[in-house]
Amino acid sequence: GKGAAMVTAVAYRLLDQSRQIAQTLAEFCLSKDQLLEVKKRMRTEIQNGLGKKTHDTATVKMLPTFVRSTPDGSENGDFLALDLGGTNFRVLLVKIRSGKRRTVEMHNKIYAIPIEVMQGTGEELFDHIVHCISDFLDYMGMKNARLPLGFTFSFPCKQTRLDAGILVNWTKGFKATDCEGEDVVELLREGIKRKEEFDLDVVAVVNDTVGTMMTCAYEEPSCEVGLIAGTGSNACYMEEMRNIETVDGDQGRMCVNMEWGAFGDNGCLDDIRTQYDRAVDENSLNEGKQRFEKMVSGMYLGEIVRNILIDLTKRGFLFRGQISETLKTRGIFETKFLSQIESDRLALLQVRAILQQLGLDSTCDDSIIVKEVCGTVSRRAAQICGAGMAAVVDKIRENRGLDHLDITVGVDGTLYKLHPHFSRIMHQTVKELAPKCDVTFLLSEDGSGKGAALITAVGCRQREQEQQ
Ligand code: GLC
Repeated sequence: GKGAAMVTAVAYRLLDQSRQIAQTLAEFCLSKDQLLEVKKRMRTEIQNGLGKKTHDTATVKMLPTFVRSTPDGSENGDFLALDLGGTNFRVLLVKIRSGKRRTVEMHNKIYAIPIEVMQGTGEELFDHIVHCISDFLDYMGMKNARLPLGFTFSFPCKQTRLDAGILVNWTKGFKATDCEGEDVVELLREGIKRKEEFDLDVVAVVNDTVGTMMTCAYEEPSCEVGLIAGTGSNACYMEEMRNIETVDGDQGRMCVNMEWGAFGDNGCLDDIRTQYDRAVDENSLNEGKQRFEKMVSGMYLGEIVRNILIDLTKRGFLFRGQISETLKTRGIFETKFLSQIESDRLALLQVRAILQQLGLDSTCDDSIIVKEVCGTVSRRAAQICGAGMAAVVDKIRENRGLDHLDITVGVDGTLYKLHPHFSRIMHQTVKELAPKCDVTFLLSEDGSGKGAALITAVGCRQREQEQQ
């Protein structure tokens, strides 16, 4: 009768709806062949970044860091470290003691950087940084010490020495004027001079990936790769000097900051990017830039999710077809929310509670779909991050002419640490795509602080040797 026909119609509509949702998400599901292709392309871009003739136009810049060795345990002294470019801005005092019982003691304070400062003038930004250092030195009672300082500055920098770094371009949420093309060490020194309250000896500018690698290498000498999966995404590793054609000399190794977030900026990933990736890019501070980063890092995953949810809502599959103001708000799905939503321990009711907290009224069906969308987006992120890492470890293996390589990767970042599945899927992918490598991932405890101090210690030692 009529009732049965209606039930059938509803059933068909639901079936069609779930088919369409599945179709939308299918674009995010990459086959092993596609992932191998991503690995291969990363390898090509690595080569371009290292090559003398190709470097200038390369997207993956492979920046030399002038860090030539990992720590050896003889590092010693008190150091100040700054950490700019991650989730928080911090100032740290790091006391490293060498000898039989090596110890590292740290004191740190977190400071907020208001968005107006992140996106204001360079002078305002550096004045703010110096103001925070001043507060920290007061707090520690160390204003008169002239401590050596390591500046973890997690953006692409062209280095010609350990203590000079020209900002190539801002990434992530920063956009302060008059900094690109400038040496950030000089900008910091000038800020300190303007303040006329204390003096510091800026010894090193350090990328967070490098700090992470060094921190892990301090405990585990086989660590020669650093990875950040957090607000941004990037990696570094020890490359053979003979392969780094942008630096003179052929002896030994140097750590290279890959800046792999820019992978794809020449269009080489366009076949796997979706309309949602393009929308996220168009709404970002740096359109066309950091395309890989926008597919894999914490600052953007939530935005991809949000764009998919908007589209599904417009098509009438979610939230009763109503696009709320909340859903229109940029940045609502922070890494910690995505991580909560995807937690397996959570019942659907709790997923609904989280969405409610965000201001999204959901039905039970809605929450199932939202969770599925989150899972799909973060899975792809973990997989292509793994594909990039597979390219790196295989290159190191080939550099050393080995059939098999055992290596440790130091990792840090909120996405890696907080997300319930990201790390596992990433590890699994590396295993599948680089079967000749045995990769151990080591969580770095505070690479940006400790690592910067270790590099500063090495830098001080090098300087003393040069002066003798
Ligand atoms: C961005 C920066 C890079 C940093 C990464 C992780 O990709 O450009 O320098 O290492 O974020 O913080």
